[in-house]
Amino acid sequence: MQRPDKVSIANGKLAVLLPGMGAVSTTLMAGVLLANRGLVKPIGSITQSGTIRLGKRTDNRVPRIKDFAPLARLEDIVFGGWDLFPDNAYEAAVHAKVLDAKDLDPIKEELSAIKPMKAVFYPEFVKRLHGTHVKTAPTKFEMVEQLRADIRNFIKDNGCSRAVCVWCGSTEIYLEPGPVHQSIAAFEKGLRDSDPSIANSMMYAWACLKEGVPFANGAPNLTVDFPAAIELARETQTPICGKDFKTGQTFMKTMLAPGLKARGLGVRGWFSTNILGNRDGEVLDEPGSFRSKEVSKLGALESIFQPELNPELYGDLYHKVRIEYYPPRGDAKEGWDNIDIFGWLGYPMQIKIDFLCRDSILAAPLVLDLALFGDLSKRAGFRGVQEWLSFYFKSPQTAEGLYPEHDVFIQSMKLKNTLRWMMGEELITHLGNEYYD
Ligand SMILES: NC(=O)c1ccc[n+]([C@@H]2O[C@H](COP(=O)([O-])OP(=O)(O)OC[C@H]3O[C@@H](n4cnc5c(N)ncnc54)[C@H](O)[C@@H]3O)[C@@H](O)[C@H]2O)c1
Repeated sequence: MQRPDKVSIANGKLAVLLPGMGAVSTTLMAGVLLANRGLVKPIGSITQSGTIRLGKRTDNRVPRIKDFAPLARLEDIVFGGWDLFPDNAYEAAVHAKVLDAKDLDPIKEELSAIKPMKAVFYPEFVKRLHGTHVKTAPTKFEMVEQLRADIRNFIKDNGCSRAVCVWCGSTEIYLEPGPVHQSIAAFEKGLRDSDPSIANSMMYAWACLKEGVPFANGAPNLTVDFPAAIELARETQTPICGKDFKTGQTFMKTMLAPGLKARGLGVRGWFSTNILGNRDGEVLDEPGSFRSKEVSKLGALESIFQPELNPELYGDLYHKVRIEYYPPRGDAKEGWDNIDIFGWLGYPMQIKIDFLCRDSILAAPLVLDLALFGDLSKRAGFRGVQEWLSFYFKSPQTAEGLYPEHDVFIQSMKLKNTLRWMMGEELITHLGNEYYD
């Protein structure tokens, strides 16, 4: 990747397109609309409230990220999306029960005006949902063409200069890349043949890549994580990243595990369970969709602890993840972790975490950041997999053969150093010996 000579400024309106207008999407939209009216602060969003140190610690240059990098402004965002239910964003937000009426009422009119475009939906990929607001076409190729037309029309009709897309649709059944996913030619043929291993989310991603629209994947589906999509992203100069927003339990894991490892403490077992009752929980109650989530959640510990390098500390680690659909909880998920650790002379100890979180409250600012950083990446001339955005994902996409960095502190350093590098500032290594010369 080459350092950009100059990152072009964010001119004009930015279309933020969200396939899946459910709990996360509508919570994001509501937050941005309220922030634009000065009624709330965009808490949890690094692009809005995060700072970045530049130069030496003694330089006292610590601007906000949004004042350092030429990001799109919140006021310039125009939201759009697709869903298989025809509810507008206000109705969908009421249905999702994340936000109270006091937060939705002031922006009811603006939210109601955001109406989903018809979805591409082959139900075999999300077995629990049965929607009617769907496109029809003889082949998957034509489905992609319809999505491409949606994107172009949305940009034109809303006077936008460009677009970015974040997948906020339901988790699809577990799939592994097959022959159809190996090259652009194989995938395009597969679209024409309506190959059964081309999932809904892949068609959205393909349409975006064809249109040069940066694409981030918030669910654990493959979506843009296969060779043909990576090849197309490079060919059309489009940034991509994924997968699966890192919000609750995995966020906790990737904060705590690096600390245990840094201190050389052993871990014998890590049992994680969740209860949640939103539509996401209902979809994940189906074994195919749960498998996608399980695989995404399991990878983090293995890669942080590196049991092959530390067999005496992590070689026997038993890691188990469960998700239970429990409707009374709605979006207010509870995640429990029991961690069996051991220290000096092998004596055992335990850590318990009980995270009473709110799924969409944690996820919405991540979607905002991914949209803004995706758009920035494109203007910086970045293309293909954006590993510097691993910070946001449970299962970060990386170059082939490269293990992902899951440690949230390494991810955060990588993100900030990429911004420094992009903007021509010195990288920060934390060596700090110049203060003692
Ligand atoms: N909230 C979190 O903390 C979190 C964390 C990680 C990942 N995620 C993922 O983010 C996604 C969204 O979560 P949510 O809580 O908003 O779920 P949700 O069920 O409220 O919303 C998903 C929406 O996607 C729609 N949809 C499904 N397939 C579609 C298609 N092919 N085209 C268009 N729309 C489609 C559904 O109708 C639904 O309205 C899920 O995949 C979830 O697993 C969420």
